[in-house]
Amino acid sequence: MTAAAAAGPAEVLATVGLTARYGSIEALAPTDMHVEDGELVAVLGPNGAGKSTLLRALMGLVTNGGTVRFRGRPLPRRDPVAVAASGVVLVPEGRGIFGPMTVAENLELGAYRLGRDKAEFERRWTRVFDLFPRLKERLGQVAGSMSGGEQQMLAIGRALMADPKVLLLDEPSLGLAPRVTAEILETLHRLNQGGLPVILVEQKAPLALKLAKRAYLLSVGRIVATIDPREITSYDDIAKHYFA
Ligand SMILES: Nc1ncnc2c1ncn2[C@@H]1O[C@H](COP(=O)(O)OP(=O)(O)OP(=O)(O)O)[C@@H](O)[C@H]1O
Ligand SMILES: [Mg+2]
Repeated sequence: MTAAAAAGPAEVLATVGLTARYGSIEALAPTDMHVEDGELVAVLGPNGAGKSTLLRALMGLVTNGGTVRFRGRPLPRRDPVAVAASGVVLVPEGRGIFGPMTVAENLELGAYRLGRDKAEFERRWTRVFDLFPRLKERLGQVAGSMSGGEQQMLAIGRALMADPKVLLLDEPSLGLAPRVTAEILETLHRLNQGGLPVILVEQKAPLALKLAKRAYLLSVGRIVATIDPREITSYDDIAKHYFA
């Protein structure tokens, strides 16, 4: 049996005993989680729980142990460029856009691996503006001068220019007004409905739970529960139980 067959047809990304450490501090205990075809999976938990660390470990951005499997094959452990090249793309906490560069330049950078395939570049470029028409109006604007919401749209747009096969987002709503947050989460929902698997780290749990197929609750560096959002009546009760 091949590794891909062993993983099952629906599995996109899975961790087996994934750990992460900063120096001698273990920030992520051995963790098993997965995302299947078409799923949006939420990762919830209080400040310092290890949510960003989990995404960084998936990308190979921190010292990690265990295995990350993507479509049945192990991903390199400490090679974020290779991880991204295989289609696992992170929109990091704080967005990570290049402030002094224009919107267009930021987007072009997202597709830097594409080479000279103009037709494919156009396809990605058009999709970004279909999802975020506001970016098209601001192509020449310096990214750092845009509003927080527009910068988050740009960060997601740049990730889409890399044509992700699974998209990881670290608190895309951070610091944004409720209306802008709703707009961005709605766009993520559209992307997911279009078939893109998503791992969404969010502090605004009730919003994330509306979109998620499954949610992992993280506390002090470990998954303390896996929940089915349809079975939840009050997130506060769950938080009190697990994060007290
Ligand atoms: N670069 C680092 N060096 C040392 N410790 C770190 C580093 N980054 C994070 N940590 C520690 O790892 C733990 C998990 O941090 P992490 O940023 O993953 O949490 P988080 O759940 O994303 O929190 P938040 O909701 O505030 O973003 C925390 O105790 C944090 O202090
Ligand atoms: Mg974080």
